[in-house]
Amino acid sequence: MDFITWCGLFKIGHPIIDEQHQKLIKIANKFHADMQSREKELLIPDTLNNLIKYVEFHFDEEIKIFQKKGYPEVEITRHSEIHENIVKDIFKLNERFSEGKYDSIHEVERFLTDWIVLHILQEDMKFKYHLKNR
Ligand SMILES: [Fe+2]
Repeated sequence: MDFITWCGLFKIGHPIIDEQHQKLIKIANKFHADMQSREKELLIPDTLNNLIKYVEFHFDEEIKIFQKKGYPEVEITRHSEIHENIVKDIFKLNERFSEGKYDSIHEVERFLTDWIVLHILQEDMKFKYHLKNR
């Protein structure tokens, strides 16, 4: 069974965003599944590099969709700032790991789960209501 199960709760109601969020969840699930079998020295940088590439692409796409769908400018600015902070956090995590400051793989796991799940449920969900009320 997956570590995080994709279900209706995560649905924003925009097919591209929903598909990309599923891919993010897949990255977290793969990390969880590989934790038992791969060395953390390889698994953590691999996952974080993969994540950063995908997240930058996804955040860009998300903002373009927000603009296309008339999401208020003030919300887009606020949301972009949150995205920037997430990207910074991923870089920080990667840096801390390469400096040997990360001894627990579970901290990385918790970071992955927390931001992916919370960002979708708390922040991206606001766009769902915008889409619904157009
Ligand atoms: Fe977002």
